[in-house]
This record gives sequence, structure tokens and C-alpha cells, in this order.
Amino acid sequence: MAHAFTPSEKIMASATPQQHRRAIAVLAVLLTAMRAAAAAGGCEGDKFPAGRSYAHCAALPKLGARLHWTHDSKTGSLSVAFVARPAGAGGAGWVSWAINPTGDGMKGAQALVAFRASPAAPYAVNTYNITGYKPLGASSTAIAFRATDLAADAAAAGEVRLYGRLQLAPGTEVVNHIWQVGSAVTAGAPAKHAFDKDNLETKGKLALSGAALAPAPTPAAAAGAGGSSAAKGGSGGGAAPSGAKPSAAATAAAAPVLTLLALAAGFMATV
Ligand SMILES: *[C@@H]1O[C@H](CO)[C@@H](O)[C@H](O)[C@H]1NC(C)=O
Repeated sequence: MAHAFTPSEKIMASATPQQHRRAIAVLAVLLTAMRAAAAAGGCEGDKFPAGRSYAHCAALPKLGARLHWTHDSKTGSLSVAFVARPAGAGGAGWVSWAINPTGDGMKGAQALVAFRASPAAPYAVNTYNITGYKPLGASSTAIAFRATDLAADAAAAGEVRLYGRLQLAPGTEVVNHIWQVGSAVTAGAPAKHAFDKDNLETKGKLALSGAALAPAPTPAAAAGAGGSSAAKGGSGGGAAPSGAKPSAAATAAAAPVLTLLALAAGFMATV
């Protein structure tokens, strides 16, 4: 029985080596565009110094912050890198990421705060048990989790990267997290942050497995939550996790890329 050629088979069968080279060049350009699109919207483009790599990342819905993490559910070890731009002019100020084991707001947050005690000092990380809207001191206070490997450095574009490892209870799967940036360090202590709308919506639930959570879970439903809606920019601060698997950012980038591929197919058919 005779084989009916599909249109693409006809193209390939009749293409000259020159047409093949041109098609390959077009595809190379498209792949580069695809990678750039995936990096732009999310967390995939973040680079870390040698020896620091993480299984998952999420572009957080407010303040342009990103979280990268590796979690060992069996031991409870959670290694994080939080990336954000301090709010002050010229990169002055501080960045902070916290887990709140007892609530979903600032009160009760067990915070890691990265800042420079003075403009000439290196970045360092303090821990703070946030008990309310009280000024923080220059020294760490004890937090509910063993915190190790605390460090911070300046990244490109005025951003600061905060690193740390927290010992959570083994088997922890979802945490309430909260993040913040401030514009000043006064007398060696992080000064209070702005109270703009965005500063007050910097919280959410983080599924440590990297799965997406349904946006804006109600406190009652949240107790055992683990939805699966794609949550990038979702209200309520549901993070848009991603990781080694196709990320939310990459998925979002896929639609325009498919259009480009369709255009390329058309282009190849005409060369
Ligand atoms: C944090 O502060 C609260 C309120 O003062 C206190 O109950 C709690 O024990 C503190 N946590 C740690 C780890 O010290």
C-alpha cells in the first residue's frame, strides 16, 4: 500500500542541504528565544555562586522576590536562597524571608533578615522571632528552627541573596511563608518597612515539594491543602513553584513559543 506523505515529510524529502541549514538556524534562534522567555518571568534565570544549587524555585507574587529551595522531607532539612532588592536608594536596606509556624502574618514569623550593619560592612543574616510590630534590634533573637549556614551576598541589579538552612519538623510538607524588604538599617538594625499594599501582601503558603498550591486558600481549607492550580501571581500569595520539571514560567512561555514554532514551520515550508 502506497504511503501518503504528510506535508512535513514532503518538505523534508524535497529540502536541499542549504534549506536544512537554514531551518536549523531558525530553530536555534527560536530555542534561544524560548530560554530567554522562560528566564524573564520567573526564577529560572537566577544564578548562584558555585556550590549553591536548589531543587525548586518560585517567583513570589510581590516585591519581585524569588525563593529557591531544597527540602528533605524525611529529615526536615530546608535549604533556601531568597533573592530580592532592598527598598532603599542605591540598594540600602534589608531583605527578609520567614516561616510563620503559628499564623500567616508577620506576628509569629521566624525570620531570616539579610543586611549590612553599615554601608561598608559585608552582608550578614540575623534571625528574629517577630513578636509584633516592634522595632528589631541589632542582634539576632532565638527562633523556633535551628538555623545554620546563614550567609548573604550582593547579586546583580542591586539584589541581595539570603542563604540559610532551617531544621523543620521531619515530614513538614507545607509552610506559611512571608517575605519583606526594607529601605534602611539604623544603628545596625533593620528599620521598619513600608506599609504599601504590596508590602502587606507578601505572604502565602509554600508547598515544599514544589507543587503549586491553589491561590488564596481559606484558613480552614488550608489546613490540609495541596491543590494543583497554576498559581503564578495568584491572589493570597500562593507561590508559583517550579523546578527541574517544567516550571510555571516555562509553561507560561510555551504558548508564544508554540506560535513561533508554527511560524517557523511556515517559514521552512517556503524556503
Ligand atoms: C518567640 O516569641 C514568642 C512571644 O514572646 C514566645 O512565646 C516564643 O517562645 C518565642 N520563640 C522562641 C523560639 O524564643
